[in-house]
Amino acid sequence: MKFYIIHGPNINLLGLREPTIYGKENYEALVQFIKNQCDAKQIESVFFQSNHEGDLVDYIQAAYGDADGIIINPAAYTHTSVAILDALKAVGLPAVEVHLSNIYERESFRHHSYAGMACIKTYYGMGFDGYKEAIAYLNDYIKGQNTKKSET
Ligand code: DQA
Repeated sequence: MKFYIIHGPNINLLGLREPTIYGKENYEALVQFIKNQCDAKQIESVFFQSNHEGDLVDYIQAAYGDADGIIINPAAYTHTSVAILDALKAVGLPAVEVHLSNIYERESFRHHSYAGMACIKTYYGMGFDGYKEAIAYLNDYIKGQNTKKSET
């Protein structure tokens, strides 16, 4: 099992950026947290973070044929990027969306997610733990799909 863990703009500045919203731990700590969760489930985790929309699209495309699933926090592009939505739909891999903060309790422009329209599940407002839930959900989902396939 292999997951691509994709992060959008300013997630590299975790710890520094608005710590009352995003917490005091940095991106490296988040990567380690996710890696530990994946390792415990024998899932290979491959990380990518970019501040550039096109690079995120390229990376989602690269997941096709390599990854079993995607965990994505598109950050601000969540609320603007049809290109990321289209890329997720194009590759057709199961994807779970995560937001550290509760986007529904913040400004109204954060209430809509384009990426979420192509995701099987969204976790928000749980900090790092949202990723733990996302990994477990995606793992179970893919395993369930494989079971169904081998039954028929
Ligand atoms: C975020 C929420 C977005 O609205 C924001 O632009 C981010 C981070 C989150 O993880 O809570 O950069 O995706």
